[in-house]
Amino acid sequence: MAHGISPARHWAVTALEAVCTQGASLDSLAGDSGAFAAMSPRDRALARAIAGTALRRKGQIDAVLARFLRTPLPQKASLAQAILRCAAAEILFLRSPAYAVVNDAVTLAGRNRQSRPFKKLVNALLRTLVRTGEDALKAIPQTVNIPAWLRESWAQHWGGAAVEDAASLLVESPPVDLTLFDDAARIRESLGGTLLGPQTLRIAAAARPRGAVPEWPGFAQGAWQVQDAAAALPAMILAPRPGEAIADLCAAPGGKSAQMLAAGATVTCVERSRSRLRRLEDNMRRLGFAPELVCADARTWQPPQPLDAVLLDAPCTATGVFRRHPDVLVNKSPEQVQSMAAKQFALMRAAARLLRPGGRLVYCVCSAQPEEGEAIAAQALAQLPLQPLAIMPERAVYGREFIRGHALRIPPGAWAGKGGLDAFYMAMFVRTKA
Ligand SMILES: C[S@@+](CC[C@H](N)C(=O)[O-])C[C@H]1O[C@@H](n2cnc3c(N)ncnc32)[C@H](O)[C@@H]1O
Repeated sequence: MAHGISPARHWAVTALEAVCTQGASLDSLAGDSGAFAAMSPRDRALARAIAGTALRRKGQIDAVLARFLRTPLPQKASLAQAILRCAAAEILFLRSPAYAVVNDAVTLAGRNRQSRPFKKLVNALLRTLVRTGEDALKAIPQTVNIPAWLRESWAQHWGGAAVEDAASLLVESPPVDLTLFDDAARIRESLGGTLLGPQTLRIAAAARPRGAVPEWPGFAQGAWQVQDAAAALPAMILAPRPGEAIADLCAAPGGKSAQMLAAGATVTCVERSRSRLRRLEDNMRRLGFAPELVCADARTWQPPQPLDAVLLDAPCTATGVFRRHPDVLVNKSPEQVQSMAAKQFALMRAAARLLRPGGRLVYCVCSAQPEEGEAIAAQALAQLPLQPLAIMPERAVYGREFIRGHALRIPPGAWAGKGGLDAFYMAMFVRTKA
């Protein structure tokens, strides 16, 4: 770790560069990093705030920096680029003391061979930014923080207002949503927040209890789990019944499995990644559930008996979770949408095979791209022994406004002004005899 400069700034720059050049995610970088763990809680919070703001505001920051740059930085200047973006995030949005930000940025630039040639430029540019950056920012709309390919896709499929709403949610700190497994009134009393339904509590960012989430009352006792309100809907619409044999085909970390277990179903959690399955196991232990755990590829796994229901929360580009994971805006591409769609259909084919005739299937993805949602559902209806099964409005305790027959589509930007919801697609099917 560098000495003399703030460890939070150093970590944020390294992390931002890794997100932008290697497609890394901020969460995994923080989880894997000894340097992150070694920081004080205050520095960890600052490091997250800097890297997070640089990602949430990347479009605006790049546009302001471009105004002051005669020629764009070359590709190989990725470290200098990350230094500038992080410093700009602090100067323009986090209101950190400008002199400390500029000093640290210049020192950091001088420390590394790759960024050293840009040290003078970093210094001059950031000083200009301190003087005139706020004015330059006024002319730049927030929508530029969403990359052009997503802006175009979202405007085409969900309308211009959705893009505007998504852009305003992106720059907010999202609330924390909890799925509850214990007395809702008691949990609300100890944590605060607003009940969205009998099993979902929303805590605004500004009203978060003190400390890290695992230190909040009820966590260790398994009274609740963190889960976006949108992500709680697929298990609600599936409406598991006590004793039903249900497979959760892409199960880790187990949010939806836990809901189905709480409803009394007999759940088999199928997950390909051993490390993610271990995490699921830890979560289940904390929550007091004991599902059957299977480490397998869901495309080839076979249960001993046909199943009553399957929940398929398929791997996807996750463009819908941009509020909590703004790195998806940087490290996802239209090519990934195509390759994910192919994987999703293969999983859907496998899921349909596992059901008894009359068995229910809920397919869902946290993607805002219809190629991964609507298109897969249509392909499944055309090619697989499945029929649409209407979603009963009373099953969706909230979000009924998004139900269309057998599908529930939450577009990007949904619930703007109310803390937002992850963009999600879910659809319900029933297995035919064929
Ligand atoms: C969207 S996440 C699931 C989240 C989970 N359902 C929850 O609510 O907590 C997708 C998961 O699918 C797993 N996965 C991807 N491809 C798989 C496959 N072919 N078979 C089984 N699991 C798979 C990934 O490792 C990842 O854990």
